[in-house]
Amino acid sequence: MSEMPLIAITGATGFVGRAIVKQARAEGYPVRAIVRDPRESRWLADEFGCELFHGNVLHAPALAGAFAGVKCVIHLVGIIIEKKENTFERAHTEATQNVIAEAKSAGVKRLIHMSALGTRADGRSRYHQTKWAAEEAVRKSGLAWTIFRPSLIYGPGNKSISVLSKIVKYSPIVPVLGNGESKIQPVGVDVVAQSFVTAIRHDETVQHTYDLCGPAAFTWNELYDKLLAAQGLRKPKIHLPLPIARVQAKVFEALLPNPPFTSDQLIMTGEDNTGNPEPAVAAFGLTLESFEQGLARS
Ligand SMILES: NC(=O)c1ccc[n+]([C@@H]2O[C@H](COP(=O)([O-])OP(=O)(O)OC[C@H]3O[C@@H](n4cnc5c(N)ncnc54)[C@H](OP(=O)(O)O)[C@@H]3O)[C@@H](O)[C@H]2O)c1
Repeated sequence: MSEMPLIAITGATGFVGRAIVKQARAEGYPVRAIVRDPRESRWLADEFGCELFHGNVLHAPALAGAFAGVKCVIHLVGIIIEKKENTFERAHTEATQNVIAEAKSAGVKRLIHMSALGTRADGRSRYHQTKWAAEEAVRKSGLAWTIFRPSLIYGPGNKSISVLSKIVKYSPIVPVLGNGESKIQPVGVDVVAQSFVTAIRHDETVQHTYDLCGPAAFTWNELYDKLLAAQGLRKPKIHLPLPIARVQAKVFEALLPNPPFTSDQLIMTGEDNTGNPEPAVAAFGLTLESFEQGLARS
C-alpha cells in the first residue's frame, strides 16, 4: 500500500477537531496538528499519535513551516465568542488568509475549509459576515478547495447541546430566547468528521460548498421538547423577549469572560439555520440519523 499523505489540521484541539483527527487517524492519515499551546495539546500526540506544530493562525510569521510536506490542510479554527485578540475578523477572516498564504508558500494544493450554515454575502451577524469573508478568501485562493457549512453540531464533547441539556435537567423552567420559532437542523459530529476526511481523497468535491445538516429541521421550542423527552421530563418553557435578551447580552458581554449568550448569537438564534443535506449525503456516502437517535448515542 502506498504511504498515506500528511494532513495538517488547525483547530484540532476543539470539539469538531477531535472528531476529525480521530476519523483521519482511523483511516491511516498521518496528522500534523497546528496548535497554539503544545503543552495543553499534548493529548493529541498521546491519544492519536499526531505530530504537533506550535503555531498561531492569527500571526502569519508564527505559521512559517507549518505545512511543509503537507498534502491537504483542514482549516477548522473558529470562535463563537470574541476574546481579546481573538476577534471574529482575526479568528475567521485573517486566520484563513494566513493559512492560505502559508499553504501556498509550502506548495500545498488542497484546502478543506470549515464555514457555517447561514454564511452569506448579506449575513447579519458578525460571525456570519467574517465567515463569508473567509469563504471568499478560500474561493479566490487558487487552491483546490472544498467548503463545509454545518448547522449546529452535536455529539460527544460538544458544549452547546450539553449545556442546554443541563439547563433542561436542573432548571425548574426552560428559558428560551425569543419566541423559539426559528428553525435549526442539527448534525452529528461524526457525520461532519466523515465528510471532511472523505473529501481529502475525493477530487470531485473540489470547488464545491456543502451544507452539513441533519435529516430534519425543527424549531428551538421543539429542540427543548426533544431534550426534555430524552430525560423523561416535562417542564414549562418561558420565553425571554428579544429586546430584553439584547440588553441582557450587552450586560453579560461587559461583565463576563464567557457570557451565556452574546448579541451576535441572538441575531443568529432569531434566524432559520437550515439547509439541504442531500448533496453531502450523495458525495460522502453519509447515513443521517435523527436528532433523537444521535442524542441517545451521545
Ligand atoms: N460547534 C458547532 O455547532 C459549529 C457549527 C458550525 C460551524 N462550526 C465551526 O467549526 C469550527 C470548530 O468549532 P468547534 O465547535 O470545534 O469549536 P471549539 O471546540 O471552540 O474549537 C475551536 C478550535 O479553534 C482553535 N482556536 C481558536 N482560536 C484560535 C487561534 N487564535 N489560534 C489557533 N487556534 C485557535 C481552538 O484552539 P485552542 O484549543 O488553542 O483554544 C480550538 O482548537 C469553527 O470554525 C466553528 O465556527 C461549529
